Amino acid sequence: MLKRNMRMTGMVILLIAIGGCSSPKQSGKMQSMTKKYLSGARTIATGFQKELSSILKKHLLAGGPAEAIAVCADTAQELTRAFGETRGAIIRRVTMKPRNPADAPDEYEKAILEKFAELQQEGKLSSRSEYFEIVEINGEKKARYLKPLTIVPVCLKCHGTNLSPGVTALLKERYPHDKAVGYNSGDLRGAISIVMDVE
Ligand code: HEC
Repeated sequence: MLKRNMRMTGMVILLIAIGGCSSPKQSGKMQSMTKKYLSGARTIATGFQKELSSILKKHLLAGGPAEAIAVCADTAQELTRAFGETRGAIIRRVTMKPRNPADAPDEYEKAILEKFAELQQEGKLSSRSEYFEIVEINGEKKARYLKPLTIVPVCLKCHGTNLSPGVTALLKERYPHDKAVGYNSGDLRGAISIVMDVE
């Protein structure tokens, strides 16, 4: 597991930009490495988002927000962990306003979330925005990828400004320190964060 206090040592090997693309000149080896890990991370992020969204929809339809909250509360952490593990990656959902305290960002993730937030304020955050970098952590190369998550109407039932009394009560019970409410459609909610070993 990456620990909050883990120091990033060594150089940043590559920076693929947020929003647009401005990568420094790279060697051929680096280019193919980037291609491999970036495309791997994209596939994982997309698959993970699809899986979560289909589970959410299924339970919203079957039992409404109450059932969906219960399922989410009981399974989201484990599902996220297991989805990553079977694909050789560490996946987290991170946010500046966590519902589950386990989803607070590490220092690295926090810096990228802040960049995403800046982009959003400038109206430049899009569905294509992403962040990718190969870093060296304690002498080991890691690929780090973050993909922003934005609020769409279906999220408002549980993250919006006008929650039903039932949802409010349930959330209070399961998440006494919930910070993940008060969002509007289009707001930046957080990001999917992926870390992979680079071999
Ligand atoms: C039925 C209620 C419900 C809906 C609808 C819902 N969420 Fe959540 N969301 C939750 C719960 C409950 C958690 C905490 C899960 C946990 O304990 O890991 C959560 C956690 C999250 C997290 C992890 C960060 C954190 O705060 O812990 C993100 C990111 C997130 N939701 C984004 C979204 C987005 C984007 C949508 C819309 C596509 C959405 N959610 C729709 C209930 C919901």
